Amino acid sequence: MELSQAFRSEERVAFGSCGHAGPPRRVCDICKTMQYAHVACSSECLRAHQRTAHEASWPADTATRAGSAQQLRNRRSKDVWELFASHRERLMSLIPPGTEGGTLCVLGAGKCDDLDLARLARQFARVHLVDLDGEAMERARDRQPAAVREVIELHPGLDLSGLLERLDAWGDEFPDDAALHEAVSRAAHRVAGALGGPFNMTLSTCVLSQLIVPFQNAWAAPASTWCKLSAALTAVHAGVLARATAAGGATSLVFDVLSSEDAPWLLELKKQTAEQLQVAVDSRLRPGKEVLEPDPSALLAHIRDSGIATQSPAPHLTRPWLWDTGTALHLVYALSFRRS
Ligand SMILES: C[S@@+](CC[C@H](N)C(=O)[O-])C[C@H]1O[C@@H](n2cnc3c(N)ncnc32)[C@H](O)[C@@H]1O
Ligand SMILES: [Zn+2]
Ligand SMILES: [Zn+2]
Repeated sequence: MELSQAFRSEERVAFGSCGHAGPPRRVCDICKTMQYAHVACSSECLRAHQRTAHEASWPADTATRAGSAQQLRNRRSKDVWELFASHRERLMSLIPPGTEGGTLCVLGAGKCDDLDLARLARQFARVHLVDLDGEAMERARDRQPAAVREVIELHPGLDLSGLLERLDAWGDEFPDDAALHEAVSRAAHRVAGALGGPFNMTLSTCVLSQLIVPFQNAWAAPASTWCKLSAALTAVHAGVLARATAAGGATSLVFDVLSSEDAPWLLELKKQTAEQLQVAVDSRLRPGKEVLEPDPSALLAHIRDSGIATQSPAPHLTRPWLWDTGTALHLVYALSFRRS
């Protein structure tokens, strides 16, 4: 494997290395930048580098560092409340009528810039917010008037991938298909159990694309591994939604599939209508062209075939829309279904 293939999409100009023979498996998430990466042949070798090159105050466990890094990103990010207005409206419009007095669980609530918490508190008896970063949710909750705050329940520090704890072990040796399958089902079970529930509605807010980030920051792996990991994370997420939603309840999975950082042509589509955007995106999706990750049609088929959704109403995939995060435009879809 070429070293340049060890990274998913970014090009780096310099590498440090443990110097051992064998393929690089780990990347130092502490000193990784857009221009530099230190690679190591094993987690043990990586820790040896971190003990000599970095301060002792860094946690030895990669998952703990990933959680802190996410918290720092949320803390440092700009005020995007106004910028998110149309995206927020899209998310709020996914809440079907008839949920009054029920419970809602939002996965990846974070800073809650894509949520109208006051509106949700009027509509639901209890609003559960879930994120790895508890601080971001506390800040969002504490901005609300008392009547809204009382309805909100926070679930901080919860890893929705359920697989972060495998970061170091799987970085050394990725499991075979049977073990991966088993880990996926255990992770979905454990995460859903930690949420409590089931809830009358579950809403996932563009957290799916984020679940792979700590792995991308810490692993050097072949394309086949990224493909399997990505599918596993999607399966865990679908499993968590299925288990956390009460029978007859509603789910909306909002997920981003492509960024203008990887597909600059998205920037030209900012002013287009929903129909025009759909046509433009579809025309780019012919074989050998752009790839959406995850593929919305495949995800829809997965939900349809898995038996977790009612047939009537059938699972519904929205047209895509563009979400401006201030640093890039992201192509977003929502997949809604009723729990069977
Ligand atoms: C793109 S943001 C979602 C937008 C968010 N609702 C807002 O308005 O700020 C993704 C959120 O997912 C959270 N996140 C990332 N990885 C996670 C994980 N493994 N488990 C739980 N939350 C995670 C991040 O902390 C972040 O708040
Ligand atoms: Zn380092
Ligand atoms: Zn080594």
